[in-house]
Amino acid sequence: MDYTFSERMKNMNGTATREIFKLLGDPSIISFAGGNPAIECLPTERVKEITGDICAAPDFARVLQYGLTAGFPELRELLCKYVESAGITGAKTENVLVISGGQQGIDLALKAFINPGDVILVEDPTYLAFLQLANSYEGVCVGVRANDDGLDLADLEEKIKKHSPKMLYCVPTFSNPTGKTYSAENRKAIAEMTAKYGVIVIEDDPYSKLRFKGEYVPSLKSYDTAGNVIFISSFSKIISPGNRTGVAVADPAVIRKMEIGKQGTDLHTPNLSQMITYEYLRRGYLAPDLEKAVKIYGEKKGAMSEAIRKYMPEEFECTDPDGGLFIWGRLPERIDAAKLLPEAVARKKVAYIQGSVFFADGGGTNYIRLNYSYANVAQIEEGIKRLAELFKEKLA
Ligand SMILES: Cc1ncc(COP(=O)(O)O)c(C=O)c1O
Repeated sequence: MDYTFSERMKNMNGTATREIFKLLGDPSIISFAGGNPAIECLPTERVKEITGDICAAPDFARVLQYGLTAGFPELRELLCKYVESAGITGAKTENVLVISGGQQGIDLALKAFINPGDVILVEDPTYLAFLQLANSYEGVCVGVRANDDGLDLADLEEKIKKHSPKMLYCVPTFSNPTGKTYSAENRKAIAEMTAKYGVIVIEDDPYSKLRFKGEYVPSLKSYDTAGNVIFISSFSKIISPGNRTGVAVADPAVIRKMEIGKQGTDLHTPNLSQMITYEYLRRGYLAPDLEKAVKIYGEKKGAMSEAIRKYMPEEFECTDPDGGLFIWGRLPERIDAAKLLPEAVARKKVAYIQGSVFFADGGGTNYIRLNYSYANVAQIEEGIKRLAELFKEKLA
């Protein structure tokens, strides 16, 4: 059959990470490619306990019934308090939508706002699945430069004036792929500027709880006085990605549109997943589990930074994140990280993600993203050593 797929799907292929996930099945490959939480951080015993209790409860049938699109009411209530930890105060249930992971929140925000041809500003580089998703709504992503403080505000304003964008998408805390964090002043300035020009902001926040050093920074949403910021938080990296739960916080009119969009997508997030998240939070399991996870990620990040210092060629530069799951590395420009990846995987048995896929406007061929949460400390040292050998060979 000669399929005529929709225009919007024409340029969409599997994302590089999705394709790379297939490699994780080969146990001899050390993967720095995905964004999986450490297997040892997944709360298997707690979820067994909670699930057992849910199944034994007299109202268990409720879990097997349809639920409300906006989410399990008790969970929505609890999430209003939960987001206070991101500096978002005064959220009411009408500001909150339970989502099937952060990815769905992004999808619903795009669905609610983006018409074909609308410009979406993104930090350059940014989360590659966002670029794919924006493409599927026929949005046009335009990169904004970033510096050590966050977004380059002069560049942001210039691009707003030039393109009249509908939206700005950003990951202000422990960005994927760079691991960098915007300062509080930068967030406030972005909130003010986007409000002034009527630009909707998606603040994507899957990583802020994974801080192993440095000071807490309030969310960009906490500086929103105009109602133009949609805050999206996920439990994937701090409870379980397989449980598919997250929360979107926005003005009630925006939440209502996203809720209608969600009806078309999945009617509601699975009740069992919502109840697991609800009980996990209600029983106070998050704080102690996070403390353990953050310690593990801090150690793994330390092991990767140390191995980079020890083995990588001196031309290799990289970020030094205070949290999250990624280090962003830069090779000399003559190295094409995409071309080198098959050799890294086949010969050195190490996987990374080539940096070019994270850039809206092309370029970035000499960058790589390295994940440090999934491999163990010994694998991190060995994997970086092997990658360094490959890079040194190519640079010689
Ligand atoms: C920046 C960013 N946003 C969103 C997601 C989607 O995560 P989930 O849908 O599991 O919450 C990810 C996953 O890696 C991510 O890195």
